[in-house]
Amino acid sequence: MSEDALVSYIVNKIGDLFTQEIPLIWKVGDEVESLKQELQALEIFLNNMDYKQRQEAATKYWLVSVRDVAYEAEDLIDTYSLEKRYAPATRIFHSYSVSKQIEELKSKIREIVERRTIYVPKLHEQRDEGSSSSTAADQGHLHPWRRSFPHLGDDVVVGFEHDAEHIVERLLHSERRRQVVAITGMGGAGKTTLAAMVYNSVSKVPISGHTHFTQLKEVDSVGELQNYFDVCAWVPVHQDPNIMDLLLIMIDQLGLSESINSPTVVHSYPRRWHVQRFKEKLYWFLKQRRYLIVLDDIWRKEVWDQFKPALPNSGNGSRIIVTTRFKDVAIYHDPGSEPYEMRPLNEDDSWRLFLTKVFPQLTPNDQPICPRGLEDLGRQLSCKCAGLPLALVVLGGLVSTKLKHPLVWSKLLDNMNWDSTDDGKQCLEILALSYYDLPYRMKFCFLYLGAYPQGSDISASKLTKLWIGDDLIPKEEGITLEGTATNYLEELTQRCLVEIVKRGSDMSIKKVRVHDLLGELAKSEARESRFLQVANLNPIEAESKPMGDSFTSFGTPSEPCEITSSSV
Ligand SMILES: Nc1ncnc2c1ncn2[C@@H]1O[C@H](COP(=O)(O)OP(=O)(O)O)[C@@H](O)[C@H]1O
Ligand SMILES: [Mg+2]
Repeated sequence: MSEDALVSYIVNKIGDLFTQEIPLIWKVGDEVESLKQELQALEIFLNNMDYKQRQEAATKYWLVSVRDVAYEAEDLIDTYSLEKRYAPATRIFHSYSVSKQIEELKSKIREIVERRTIYVPKLHEQRDEGSSSSTAADQGHLHPWRRSFPHLGDDVVVGFEHDAEHIVERLLHSERRRQVVAITGMGGAGKTTLAAMVYNSVSKVPISGHTHFTQLKEVDSVGELQNYFDVCAWVPVHQDPNIMDLLLIMIDQLGLSESINSPTVVHSYPRRWHVQRFKEKLYWFLKQRRYLIVLDDIWRKEVWDQFKPALPNSGNGSRIIVTTRFKDVAIYHDPGSEPYEMRPLNEDDSWRLFLTKVFPQLTPNDQPICPRGLEDLGRQLSCKCAGLPLALVVLGGLVSTKLKHPLVWSKLLDNMNWDSTDDGKQCLEILALSYYDLPYRMKFCFLYLGAYPQGSDISASKLTKLWIGDDLIPKEEGITLEGTATNYLEELTQRCLVEIVKRGSDMSIKKVRVHDLLGELAKSEARESRFLQVANLNPIEAESKPMGDSFTSFGTPSEPCEITSSSV
């Protein structure tokens, strides 16, 4: 749907819905009427734009705001009509909050119209001053999607060059004994990102969803570095691992699967026997080779006790990279090797990372550009994240969905006036802020993700089918349920509440992942709102699926819907 068709559609929807029902409710009727008028002004404005104007990059960028505000108006109407249907007793309260939200929307719409005359020429100036004309908006024709979802920021890593150099130095160091290089830091500090950056430059088979690190001083070319280790494996461990599964992942990555797949071997012996046999298999395979193994996200020392016998010390420079939140766990792996502690990003890198998420479409050569007049506020926002990458990408993702206007940004800043000086707590506050900002329906789609095991790769097509099957996706005119579900997923990734692991050649999302802290947030919010009940299954056993029969949805609080085990 084009922007003008969209705005017309919403104006009509308001006409249909509110003019008949709202006057019954305290004061809201007038507000809605004036919202309709603002939208009509926008409609006229849009109708007057010719094709050529629409094709300009700056205009496309402006149209994104139009779409956003139009959808916000639609979400408000949908939320209100749902609440009215299911919670009539709270009408007065809701009519008050609807009035307030309408007021905000109206001022946003007015700003949009004003910005078309004042702000867009500034964008032109900036573009002419050096930003690339190849913006995401220019690439919009690739995606017939509801909102514009730029992808340029997907895998931009900011500010880890020195950290990566340091880790590579330790991998290539002349010390011959098998050494563990542990990376520590709080959740969301970038441990996995850093380890993956190094791993992808060293391994011949990079792991997906992460970038390479190519600025290496120690060796002349990346090719040479890729030949330094004979074999590499990446093992995602997480909180409650099943050691047999982890050994199997390692065996698979090292190309040893075939030799252990005979049915007699798998079925006729007890589990302990298998674990022992797999460890021996790995030991003898690795003994002759210089290897690099990454154990990502270790929580307990016992995991190392299990892995250690499978990892020989042949004095050939083999290395193990471990990432963990816990310093004592890090030291336990190799007391003779100082853990590498992640530092928060400095102010400039924080600002850069924040901007790559807020303005991915204005990111030529990884140099995001912020319109003048927003920089001061933007820097204040990014400072709230205390240099923590996860907080920065989530806050940046949230801001990217808002109007790029000082009033909107300062309001957001006002919302972040918490007292806590604890960085971890502040990060959680930012994640929660972003969750609460989600449109009503999308919140449930996010909560649904709490049912997946930690760190699992989730198939996008399966996930969207499950959302549809469980009635989380509303029917919208002119678009299929699958289309809307895909748009929801795109928006969750734009907000960095979901990470993209893999895109297809047509740029559609194939696989996603949820960061542990966001998964925890989804789980706890889902429990609190009684949206779903998650039994404590061993996550690895659940094999990257929502948790089968043990997962029950209570539906939306106002609209109970049963989830059958076949649909989950
Ligand atoms: N230097 C960075 N530049 C860009 N994004 C980053 C950077 N560090 C982390 N991120 C992003 O922040 C999020 C959390 O990072 P992650 O490496 O998973 O943290 P940890 O493993 O410490 O919990 C991920 O979405 C990741 O893409
Ligand atoms: Mg991690």
